[in-house]
Amino acid sequence: MDRGRITVSLAEYEEGAVRFYASDLEELERLGLAYTKARVFYNPDMRSNRDIAVAVASLLGEEVVAADIMAASGVRALRLAAEAGAAVIANDRNPLAYHAIRLGIRRNGLEGSVDAWLMDANLASLSLKESGGVDYLDVDPFGTPSPFLWAAVGAVRIGGILAVTATDTPVLYGVYPDKLFRVYFAHGRKVEFHKEAGLRILAAYAARVAAVYDLAVRPVLAHATRHYARVYFRVERGATKASESLREMLGWVSYCLRCGWRMIQQGRYPPKEESCPRCGSRLEKLGPLWVGDILDEGVVKPTLKKLNECVWFSEEAREIVESLSQELGMPPLYYDLDLLASRRKLPSPSPRAAVKALRSRGFRASLVHCEKKSIKTDASIGEIEEVVRDLVGGK
Ligand SMILES: C[S@@+](CC[C@H](N)C(=O)[O-])C[C@H]1O[C@@H](n2cnc3c(N)ncnc32)[C@H](O)[C@@H]1O
Repeated sequence: MDRGRITVSLAEYEEGAVRFYASDLEELERLGLAYTKARVFYNPDMRSNRDIAVAVASLLGEEVVAADIMAASGVRALRLAAEAGAAVIANDRNPLAYHAIRLGIRRNGLEGSVDAWLMDANLASLSLKESGGVDYLDVDPFGTPSPFLWAAVGAVRIGGILAVTATDTPVLYGVYPDKLFRVYFAHGRKVEFHKEAGLRILAAYAARVAAVYDLAVRPVLAHATRHYARVYFRVERGATKASESLREMLGWVSYCLRCGWRMIQQGRYPPKEESCPRCGSRLEKLGPLWVGDILDEGVVKPTLKKLNECVWFSEEAREIVESLSQELGMPPLYYDLDLLASRRKLPSPSPRAAVKALRSRGFRASLVHCEKKSIKTDASIGEIEEVVRDLVGGK
């Protein structure tokens, strides 16, 4: 036993176009241990996360250099090489993971395209920066990515992609406001659109970290799936660009817990309004968060096309990005229809029917990739309530 982890055998797995080695998940289960206790970590449930990563990286063209600075079994790095044609650095500080990565490289004949590194993730990012940077960099830690972004932003070449996973979603989603402030420098609490707020808080945090180094990062694809939040950023250079991006894209949400009214405002400081203009209750303030787009059509559509082209990508990955493509151009912050209906003591409407009814009245409306019972729309809350009342036959 080593700090709560047990050494179990490595097993061979297959995902996408590669075979690789990780702790034997069946053996772990027989020992009554969670997969999180694996010495060489592999979570099959993250497959769609990796599918989307491979599809996004493959949009960067030929001769791409990529890195997974927390590579574990190396599955993501091997796939980036085998499926996106990238030259890849697969780093992990765990010697057993490093060993498994090397086995995986040999197993797939990828000696010429994947390099295994054994070091701390931040040191790996700094070394990558020193050697000219990479076009695609994946930050995929256990828990928060926050301490790894400072070095990672500088390791991505201008125009490249920084991909960030956060699994500390209770923090990002506002369950622990003190920790949210400590880790992401943001104010918030859990609200009906908490998953999107979490993605936007992560985006705003990365933008501020990048700005310290005169870099601008712009979210181009973001999704909240299962137990994690994931944001892909395009990296751009320049103090002016960084300042502009902070000025225009950072802001605050004022939200009324009682009636669901919300407003987004650009700016560094929390809005002054204290009470809801609709019901007079006290407003919650969430921010700073990214108030600009977090989906870029030029990335979302080609990613979906890529996912549809290759048979080995999972149905879940296609569904996530298909759903994101429906959200393109929608205003931020979804509405939870169950909550909206329960506030008015109405039965819940079907989200599909609500979207259809809103569109027939000339509003924009879509379903939401991360919450089955929620919708996005440019209708006001009063207008949505009217549509819901008509749908469920209330007064
Ligand atoms: C969630 S796993 C990565 C999963 C992998 N990227 C994938 O797609 O399957 C996190 C990995 O980060 C490694 N790790 C944690 N802290 C690290 C650090 N400071 N530097 C380098 N590796 C680290 C762990 O050893 C673990 O293998």
